Amino acid sequence: MHQPPKETPERRAFYDRIDKKNLTPLWTVMGALITPEPRSNCRPAVWRFDEIREAMVEAGGLITAREAERRVLILENPGLRGESKITTSLYAGIQLVLPGEVAPAHRHTQSALRFVLEGSGAFTAVSGEKTVMEFGDFVITPPMAWHDHGNETDAPMFWLDGLDIPLVSFLDASFAEGMDEDQQPVTRMAGQSYAEFGHNLMPVDAPRSGHVSPIFNYPYARSRETLEALRKGGAPDPCHGWKLRYTNPIDGGWAMPTIGTCIQLLPDGSTTPYRSTDATVFACAEGKGRSHVGDTVLEWGARDVVVVPSWQPVVHEADGDAVLFSYSDRPVQEKLGLWRERRGNA
Ligand SMILES: [Fe+2]
Repeated sequence: MHQPPKETPERRAFYDRIDKKNLTPLWTVMGALITPEPRSNCRPAVWRFDEIREAMVEAGGLITAREAERRVLILENPGLRGESKITTSLYAGIQLVLPGEVAPAHRHTQSALRFVLEGSGAFTAVSGEKTVMEFGDFVITPPMAWHDHGNETDAPMFWLDGLDIPLVSFLDASFAEGMDEDQQPVTRMAGQSYAEFGHNLMPVDAPRSGHVSPIFNYPYARSRETLEALRKGGAPDPCHGWKLRYTNPIDGGWAMPTIGTCIQLLPDGSTTPYRSTDATVFACAEGKGRSHVGDTVLEWGARDVVVVPSWQPVVHEADGDAVLFSYSDRPVQEKLGLWRERRGNA
């Protein structure tokens, strides 16, 4: 690995002279720029839903969803405080919509996902179509798609928001706008996109490409029954249990262009060590257990959120069956030829 050459008075004087011309030598910083393995400030961490929930309920008394636009508490990685990031490239937050509230319509270039943690029956509207959300549903809002949320039930609704905010700001590609109305006009039947694309069928003239899935709500009931069916079909993967990616039915790729999303069933016991270059956010849907990330042990239960940084070995240990939803920047790394994994201790 490259060690910076010794600094001499002549060299120092030279660096100071060229500094005034916005120039700097590569040889003093190369070892920190081009590292033999990923080096990140992102740290392994866990957030307990019960603690977040308590803070969210307090936030509910302090600010309305309309005033906040989105009433969200950001899950900030302890190694990246002040940067609104859960990993170097991705954002996570917990959103609360109280009974009778609306989170007004807006749109932005950032892609967003929701994973429902508590409540039943609140809605998200995306591009003129409403979808009712249930526990464990995975909902997409594509780049520049109008979206608003509302809760016409009598109980609060909480969900995990995952966005590519850090990635989009790194690329200086953020655009956003609001609508004059709180709620966008509804132009399509509720559930139309799932009817069209959710059953291994699609409209005969549907386009053959598209960088976002036309399905924007992947119901938990369907993913859960699929995992259960797979269990009957054969042994689990030693690193992942039974793990499935949410796909775009148009091309079989990831459901979202920048964020890869998965659901997995872990049987009782420990997985084999695994590492990959995509730092991953896990939300526990069911069960309990712990993740060993290097020397760190993160205990989790239902609705807790865990982050595993890039290239740190992880072993998941479930006490009985556990179901984990997860997301990472894997689609971006794959498109750029950067993604790597290592299975086992090799
Ligand atoms: Fe949004």
